[in-house]
Amino acid sequence: MAIERTFAIIKPDAVGRGLAAEILARIQKAGFSILAIKSLRMSKGEAEGFYAVHRARPFFGELTQFMSSGKSVVMVLEAENAIGKWRDTMGATDPSKAAPGTIRRDLGTSIQNNCTHGSDATETAAFEIAYFFSGHELV
Ligand code: RTP
Ligand code: MG
Repeated sequence: MAIERTFAIIKPDAVGRGLAAEILARIQKAGFSILAIKSLRMSKGEAEGFYAVHRARPFFGELTQFMSSGKSVVMVLEAENAIGKWRDTMGATDPSKAAPGTIRRDLGTSIQNNCTHGSDATETAAFEIAYFFSGHELV
């Protein structure tokens, strides 16, 4: 199987609670390589563009407020089957429904404050990587 790329975020709830290093350790332990990484605070508009697929959802305002509430760590991860593998490492969206040992189950505090983001398909990974990283950052 070919090496695949996915886009990951350590969300503001996790960064604010001092959990970035713990989550990075889990990423390394799971066997991903980090192709690119940076810390930034999204504006409300940047969060709205990133989560545009959810604009009709009732939680869109709250979600984009949350995502622009503090610093995030954004990353491009590489591995075989990186998209599925990273979603498995994160666990289900709602931490109370996520499998034991996953990041969201162990560290998340609510369906919104679930510590991490991961792309859900090849096309969304390509869009999300390009949203935050330029070609010269991905060599
Ligand atoms: P993500 O995109 O962040 O990796 O999460 P996901 O695929 O597991 O879940 P998705 O349905 O794409 O939702 C995106 C993010 O919106 C927040 N959310 N809040 N209040 C709510 O009912 C609700 N539902 C989702 C979460 O932060 C979720 O990760
Ligand atoms: Mg999603």
